[in-house]
Amino acid sequence: MKTAIHPMPRRGRFTAGMLIGLSFLTGAAQANEAGSIKAGREAAESCAACHGEKGNSNNPAFPSIAGQSAKYVASQLTAYRDGKRENDIMSGQASGLSDEQIRDIAVYYAAQERKVANPADDGSDLGADLYHQGRENVAACAACHHSEGHGNQPAGFPALRGLTAAYTAQSLKDYRSGDRSHGQAALMTALAAELSDDEIDALAAHIASLD
Ligand code: HEC
Ligand code: HEC
Repeated sequence: MKTAIHPMPRRGRFTAGMLIGLSFLTGAAQANEAGSIKAGREAAESCAACHGEKGNSNNPAFPSIAGQSAKYVASQLTAYRDGKRENDIMSGQASGLSDEQIRDIAVYYAAQERKVANPADDGSDLGADLYHQGRENVAACAACHHSEGHGNQPAGFPALRGLTAAYTAQSLKDYRSGDRSHGQAALMTALAAELSDDEIDALAAHIASLD
């Protein structure tokens, strides 16, 4: 115990030491719950064929997943596996994964640096405006996804930078129609329901231009 080493510590240091000790113990106890980056790297070997090395995709058909929130990646993989997010390719990829493998893969990708290889040249003024300011009944995207699209890892709000316009537009339409309704999708469905096709295309163009 810290008290044995520092029998009469100043009150502030004593408290800080106790807190560090406590969070260390809690961290160790939860190591399995939280997932292992090393085990995740191995479990994710086959994913690189589409999602690129360390999750940075060079192929517009496949979204980048590097630097994505672990909570979000785990939620999506579980949804593909359990048939709650439908995609023929990914349901096959996720079907054999255990909950533990999903946690490992999620922390592995969360720990990778997200790199945007080819940001689109032409953004959209309407898209940028909606992204930063929102409008009536549409909350500003930046509030949850960060002004530059970095997302919010602890909250599980996905990073958007590096997503292609086609992928983003499809995702927004899937929230609008209710096809994506699992996990934290409720935070997206109400505002997506308000968006017109033109607004979706404008937002997708702006997001694709984030570097
Ligand atoms: C054959 C190509 C292919 C392979 C291999 C593959 N994926 Fe995917 N992945 C895709 C496609 C295509 C999508 C987009 C699907 C959609 O629109 O729902 C996707 C989507 C995802 C998403 C959701 C991304 C987001 O932004 O919501 C995650 C997470 C993911 N894949 C993880 C993995 C993991 C982990 C593996 C390995 C176990 C893997 N993928 C293997 C093609 C692939
Ligand atoms: C209140 C917080 C919040 C706001 C505001 C918000 N989002 Fe989201 N967004 C989320 C969450 C949480 C998810 C993940 C939902 C899930 O589990 O599928 C998400 C998912 C997404 C995705 C899917 C990403 C992927 O990789 O598949 C896109 C695209 C997206 N949001 C775009 C937007 C846009 C555009 C706006 C503004 C019009 C916006 N969001 C506003 C919280 C928010």
